[in-house]
Amino acid sequence: MTTHPDAVPRAPALRIRDLHKTYGNGVQALKGVSLDVAPGDFFALLGPNGAGKSTLIGIVSSLVNLSGGGVEVFGIDLAARRGDAMRQIGLVPQEINFNMFEQPLDILVNYAGFYGIPRAQAEQRAEAELRRAHLWDKARMMSRTLSGGMKRRLMIARAMMTAPRLLILDEPTAGVDIEIRRDMWRVLREINAAGTTIILTTHYLEEAESLCRNLAIIDHGTIVEQGPMRALLAKLDVEGFLFDIDGTLPATLPAIANATLAARDDHTLELDMPRAMNLNGVFDVLDAAGIRVRSMRTKSNRLEELFVRLTGQPGEAA
Ligand SMILES: Nc1ncnc2c1ncn2[C@@H]1O[C@H](COP(=O)(O)OP(=O)(O)O)[C@@H](O)[C@H]1O
Ligand SMILES: [Mg+2]
Repeated sequence: MTTHPDAVPRAPALRIRDLHKTYGNGVQALKGVSLDVAPGDFFALLGPNGAGKSTLIGIVSSLVNLSGGGVEVFGIDLAARRGDAMRQIGLVPQEINFNMFEQPLDILVNYAGFYGIPRAQAEQRAEAELRRAHLWDKARMMSRTLSGGMKRRLMIARAMMTAPRLLILDEPTAGVDIEIRRDMWRVLREINAAGTTIILTTHYLEEAESLCRNLAIIDHGTIVEQGPMRALLAKLDVEGFLFDIDGTLPATLPAIANATLAARDDHTLELDMPRAMNLNGVFDVLDAAGIRVRSMRTKSNRLEELFVRLTGQPGEAA
């Protein structure tokens, strides 16, 4: 394996601080984004179209100039030591961009040559990567004849030729059907299990849920949520209500199992409860405490609203 003497031990695979990007036309694509990705993580950057995902990936992979803030890759400052930082990264762009008239094996070997990897070593690596991508039997076919899923796996195999410690994929499965997506997921899981940190952008909650341990959600150039996938799913699984109360509330509120009840003001109660829970029991408890509910509304949930836009369905993850 390649060693990376430049990298700082135990530094985050990616550290982004207060990243800003304003394009020439005045669009503010990133408005102060900060995030850390731990070494070995499988991390999702989830967000709707236009959120700023590709801008962020573009900056990290040096395709886009930043307007403010900083990026470190395994402790290497991108602005100060661009070449060293870039050597840690493998990028899979959204669009298929290899020469369709070349053969997979040549595409990989030539790519490695471009990065100064000796030919014999490149050929060895190409075989290993084509095997991992389940493409070894297609090594000598014209790439044009590969299926859509195979072409995408070839893109991943190519990015892995430089043995990057951080593999970044920008919407690798946008617009491809579910079987092809699952095929790619399997390859990505294998790569991650072998020790490569992976960051992928997606607008599929299901994809992030299936693959990733940690995630950040970006919307309008701002991180709106960040943390373990599990914690996010738990948050999505909670539903909030506001009750307007007749009269005033008692000094002590009754307890409701598995839910939180709090007074927002003298006449309004706030309830957070698991989505699967039944409201009847809640009313029984309130009734017994002498609390009369005049009307109720659902509490707006920013996360929920975001997921309606992401998935077209509220609470799909629940
Ligand atoms: N080259 C560019 N010039 C001007 N505006 C851009 C450019 N690229 C992206 N944008 C704008 O920046 C915002 C974020 O875009 P992008 O990073 O591509 O989002 P995403 O990848 O999440 O869909 C959008 O409003 C988009 O129109
Ligand atoms: Mg994009």
